[in-house]
Amino acid sequence: MKRALKITGMILGAIVVVMLLGAASINFSGIPTYETNPPNLEVKPDSAMIAEGKRLATLVCQHCHMGTTGKLDGKEMLDIPAEFGKVWAPNITQHPNSKLAPYTDGELAYFLRTGVKRDGGYAPPWMPKFPHMSDEDLHSVIAYLRSDARELQPSDKVQPAPEPSFLVKFLCRVAFKPLPFPEESVEAPPVTDKVAFGRYLLTSKVECYSCHSADFKTVNIEAPEKSEGYLGGGNTLISPEDGVTEIYSANITMDKETGIGNWTEEEFIKAVRFGQRPDGKPIRPPMIPFSALSDEEASAIWAYLQTAPPVKNEVQRNWEE
Ligand code: HEC
Ligand code: HEC
Repeated sequence: MKRALKITGMILGAIVVVMLLGAASINFSGIPTYETNPPNLEVKPDSAMIAEGKRLATLVCQHCHMGTTGKLDGKEMLDIPAEFGKVWAPNITQHPNSKLAPYTDGELAYFLRTGVKRDGGYAPPWMPKFPHMSDEDLHSVIAYLRSDARELQPSDKVQPAPEPSFLVKFLCRVAFKPLPFPEESVEAPPVTDKVAFGRYLLTSKVECYSCHSADFKTVNIEAPEKSEGYLGGGNTLISPEDGVTEIYSANITMDKETGIGNWTEEEFIKAVRFGQRPDGKPIRPPMIPFSALSDEEASAIWAYLQTAPPVKNEVQRNWEE
């Protein structure tokens, strides 16, 4: 009996040692790197593409990359929960030392779609990926990044490299993986197909769904609808104003009790574009007013939301009284 216990103890001890060694090795080696296979791409910018790319950057990229200088020279991302580590969005201006500078068009397309940087490093979910963004929109972003827009003019700011937590390093081994680069061209649904176009905006172009599902850790980028608690909210974000107050994403499904099923379309458009709820309470950062969306686009998102399954999830709202 004693002997059996001793052997069990030794086996358990050995398991613990192996686990500790595994953990130490993950912690030490960090986020894995991957081979890159960028397409042969040279974007031919025209003024319409640059304008659309700028609008898209206003809707999406600026949120993280806009610095205090009014240029896209990056900042600390205070709205990310501490469990992910400390994260800075880098300088992506046209300064020769910025993170953008060495990228070719093909490498940028590859990075924005797959999450694999030109040096093979993998960007965890704190930098979104756009596998389903249309080629036209993707190329517009690239055209804009090469343009003479004021916010892209050289800034020599250097942001610290992200300091991923053990959790992120671990998840980058087991769960977060680079996405495949699409083999075929990617097209957006026509504007006239309102529901499909709304879905495209919400899942692929403006990326509302990742904040608005249950948890960044269980967001499914390849098949957004399979994300845990899709659009039902409750994902923990942090107020960028103080870097501490937890703000949970809202339930934006049509559930009448816990979602926005009792809102009108006008109320929804006003909320999304101007940050005002029907009851007069503010919609707080990190949710930004998407004023660069047109009424038609917000209306298309609304049309799509009518078709998404309602989720019953009462999100805690800690408004100040
Ligand atoms: C939610 C915040 C967020 C958004 C939105 C965002 N980024 Fe980033 N971006 C980051 C972070 C954080 C990193 C650093 C990634 C890393 O090194 O792990 C990064 C890195 C980058 C890099 C540098 C990659 C390298 O090699 O180091 C480029 C270029 C970039 N982003 C472009 C964009 C563009 C273009 C958009 C809009 C289409 C965008 N980002 C939207 C947070 C964001
Ligand atoms: C960076 C994460 C993030 C992104 C991206 C985001 N949201 Fe939000 N959203 C939030 C958070 C957090 C709240 C809750 C704010 C609060 O409690 O004050 C919110 C609130 C809302 C509300 C108000 C609902 C209510 O019950 O008060 C609506 C509507 C909404 N978002 C729609 C959208 C749409 C549509 C998009 C895409 C165009 C989007 N959001 C993108 C984080 C985000």
